[in-house]
Amino acid sequence: MDQAPGIYKQMHLTVVGTGYVGLVTGTCLADAGHSVTCIDIDQEKISRLNKGDIPIYEPGLEQLVKHNVAAGRLKFTTSLAEALPATEVLFIAVGTPSAADGRADLRYVFTVADDIGKHLDHYIVVVDKSTVPVGTAKQVTERIQRHYQGDFDVASCPEFLREGSAVDDFFAPDRIVLGVRNDKAGDILLDVFKTIKGQKVLTTIESAELIKYASNAFLATKISFINEIAQICERSGADIEEVAYGIGLDNRIGPKFLKAGIGWGGSCFPKDVIALDQMAGDGGYDFRLLKAVVEVNSNQRGHFIKRISDQLGGTLAGKTLAAFGLAFKNNTDDIRESAAIDIIEQLIAAGATVKAFDYKATDNARAALPTSVLYPADPYETARQADALLVLTEWKEFKELDWIKLKSLLRQPVVFDGRNLLKPATMRELGYSYYSIGR
Ligand SMILES: NC(=O)c1ccc[n+]([C@@H]2O[C@H](COP(=O)([O-])OP(=O)(O)OC[C@H]3O[C@@H](n4cnc5c(N)ncnc54)[C@H](O)[C@@H]3O)[C@@H](O)[C@H]2O)c1
Repeated sequence: MDQAPGIYKQMHLTVVGTGYVGLVTGTCLADAGHSVTCIDIDQEKISRLNKGDIPIYEPGLEQLVKHNVAAGRLKFTTSLAEALPATEVLFIAVGTPSAADGRADLRYVFTVADDIGKHLDHYIVVVDKSTVPVGTAKQVTERIQRHYQGDFDVASCPEFLREGSAVDDFFAPDRIVLGVRNDKAGDILLDVFKTIKGQKVLTTIESAELIKYASNAFLATKISFINEIAQICERSGADIEEVAYGIGLDNRIGPKFLKAGIGWGGSCFPKDVIALDQMAGDGGYDFRLLKAVVEVNSNQRGHFIKRISDQLGGTLAGKTLAAFGLAFKNNTDDIRESAAIDIIEQLIAAGATVKAFDYKATDNARAALPTSVLYPADPYETARQADALLVLTEWKEFKELDWIKLKSLLRQPVVFDGRNLLKPATMRELGYSYYSIGR
């Protein structure tokens, strides 16, 4: 086995759940020199991975998977029982979607905990990497103990990667939060991440669990806040880009997550914000700010759709709209809770015909959107004979398109830029009626 240079101590790690988080975490830990087995219950996913076919799009990931499989440090299997005997540290990275009441649905986490308990026969550290409510590590401990009474530890190491730059984020994180019950588990986890740059923050398990939710809730709050300011800009003549820049230079605030637009979505913010609100409620506290953050986000999409309708003569019925973007953000194929998908569904419900284009997310969108949506092969065909063009995902590639040609293909030169991707002055010079957010 090829041991990566600089590795402090190679360990045998298992990652259960080979989705966006599990596959990136497992692959990057293998690249850091550890011996890693990635497990999933999805047989098809594991078969594809064993053939070198990567089921998700994430920049740099495919190359890294292939390199580490070839080096003998990374394996894929569906069998936890097979991987467990050699395992020193096991990461749980399965999904924690919203249950019907908004609480995190922990059934996948608990299934893994039960399986671990049934097959465990030696000390390991079980690490919750999935985003889970405060108190989950205790419940995972109890589930394992139903089957196994020997010594083991449960810890919390929440994941902060951003889809679209997940590999880079893994190797240069702002911090690695390690919630542990004792020094033994803490020292083992420090060894796991020994060669990864970034500050290690040792906390109680409960604090680690809450840090993840509080981080996502705060970021969502920043975006909803700037979208509220954008509303004031539209009513006062101020420009949100200038205002956000001016605010962001204050280092107590910082420039990131101050981009006005059609709001946040994705696989994490929506479910985590609601789960945190539920968690607060379960503890007898009404988290009013968070409820407003959600409401503002939802209204932002409504304002955008209303503006399109108003500018196109008061109705969307019979209109053909070209949607640029389906993914919840650029550089990913992930459409979970994507604002683009939600908006397209609302446009169709209002009687519009939608043609959509995305650089990576079309296959996923096809499975989620009504069958009436058309997916031309390129942006220009998407724009052809449309009554308006909508920018719904901030793919940088959209900026580089030939906007003179696009204008000639549209039925009328109208652009609604939900991501403030394009420059208003340039678009007006080109002869477009151009609408964006807060400017
Ligand atoms: N996606 C992100 O950007 C991100 C970032 C930070 C944290 N998180 C959190 O990480 C967790 C995983 O998110 P994701 O986006 O990777 O989810 P995902 O849906 O992409 O992947 C989850 C995987 O777990 C597998 N799985 C489910 N039950 C299993 C079981 N019993 N045994 C083995 N595999 C099983 C599923 O088949 C799936 O492949 C969630 O809690 C999420 O909130 C996600």
